[in-house]
Amino acid sequence: MKFYITTPIYYVNDKPHIGHAYTTIAADVLARYHRLKSEEVFFLTGTDEHGAKVAETASKQGLEPQELCDRNSAQYQMLWDRLDIANDFFIRTTSELHKKNFQEFLLKLKDADAIYESEYQGLYCTGCEKFITEKELVDGFCPLHKCEPENIKEKNYFFKLKQFLPQVEKLIDSGEIRIMPESRRKEVLGLIKQGLEDFSISRESVKWGIEIPFVKNQVAYVWVDALTNYVTALEGDDFQKFWPADIHLMAKDIIKFHALYWPAMLLAAGLPTPKTIFAHGFFTVDGQKMSKSLGNAIDPDSLLDSFGSDAVRYLLLSQFPFGDDGDVKAGNFVIQYNADLANGIGNFASRVMAMAEKYFDGSVPEKDFGFENEIKNIWQEYEQALDKFQIDKAVEAIKKLNGFGDGEIEKTKPWELAKTDPEKLKKVIYGLLEAVRHLGIMIYPIMPQTAEKILSMLGQEDWKKQSLEELKEWGRLGPGTRVKKGESLFPRIK
Ligand code: MSP
Repeated sequence: MKFYITTPIYYVNDKPHIGHAYTTIAADVLARYHRLKSEEVFFLTGTDEHGAKVAETASKQGLEPQELCDRNSAQYQMLWDRLDIANDFFIRTTSELHKKNFQEFLLKLKDADAIYESEYQGLYCTGCEKFITEKELVDGFCPLHKCEPENIKEKNYFFKLKQFLPQVEKLIDSGEIRIMPESRRKEVLGLIKQGLEDFSISRESVKWGIEIPFVKNQVAYVWVDALTNYVTALEGDDFQKFWPADIHLMAKDIIKFHALYWPAMLLAAGLPTPKTIFAHGFFTVDGQKMSKSLGNAIDPDSLLDSFGSDAVRYLLLSQFPFGDDGDVKAGNFVIQYNADLANGIGNFASRVMAMAEKYFDGSVPEKDFGFENEIKNIWQEYEQALDKFQIDKAVEAIKKLNGFGDGEIEKTKPWELAKTDPEKLKKVIYGLLEAVRHLGIMIYPIMPQTAEKILSMLGQEDWKKQSLEELKEWGRLGPGTRVKKGESLFPRIK
């Protein structure tokens, strides 16, 4: 089985904020989960470096566009390193690889007679990098970027979107292209019903872009350039192996490009369409979309300084259901960190390890199967959630396991059993140690460093050699294995 997952490629007119981190962490969680299932995974992210917005920002900062791209693309890559994002490739649209493959793609569209030349006049929002209609404006301004669009008149090449839309609609209707969540599928089908125009794939007045191979003085429209990254990144055998994408992940702002324009372009080029397009919601701050242009962005680096990578990954993903919008209150992060991580997972693991050290001198007692069924059910919930990309529900399953473990400690009171019933104590401690092992594996996609720490405390350094089926079995923890309480996993924060 293969699993190809992508994030949007992000604009380099500024450094990343937690909205970008949110999508990328979510993609990393899904990629790690599929690797855990022994699938062959290709996880792609990258930066979108052309277009008027980048060129304008560079000029304002007195930089060459390429300098700005290099600077900010590096900011993204550094942030992904700090966040333990394990992508298989990082695509930059200013790379030779992308330019060459993109031009080939354009020629395919041309050969298929899917492109024609025409004049265009319309309103353009540089913030969105798209033409915008009068209807979409609020008091004359773009509702997302709060700026006035430019009136543009140009000779452009156009893509015959209208010709391919009926086929795209059919693929969405039949579920061959799955648009998730359901509300987004309805929205996309609604857009088709309203009627869409062919779109321009070239720009005359913009200079910062990839040249169109069959005409002078025009560069590719940045969105056409950007969308193809999902195929230009797959060189040689990788294309055969991984295309079509199993899931394109993004927020709802760019669903139209991915669910309509992109499949239509692929159909025109004679290529298979993506299997799933999943658009999650927005992080909002006081009800407004968090964005660089609105100046209300939360800086991921300062969050990382306070909480560390695993906790930031957990905190961002557990704010609200994956798919919905949610308002972020930075002040809640500390409360939630202490509740779920310091007093939750961290405390549970350390209590169990301490008891194993105290009562059994750090050696796993004989096997017991007492908690087998409960754990099996929790695994089922967890897997069903992640198979449907419901990351928040997977977090619920993890919390349930943590809560179950805490509950067992309170119910069985090992400190009393140590005095009254040593045989029962063995069973209880074995069950709790196994519960910690299962918890360690379950948190791996979300909190990979903590997972490694927990599994190493349990003497399971070679856990990655086992399949998920094996890891999920109850009783893999061998009696006699040496276990030790290590450093505190999540020190409390005041
Ligand atoms: N460059 C285009 C995408 C081209 S993909 C072929 C673009 N770039 S962007 O930098 O604006 O990134 C948009 C994406 O960043 C969103 O779709 C989402 O994945 C993420 N987010 C940016 N702000 C966000 C929030 N406030 N909340 C949630 N996700 C956010 O569009």
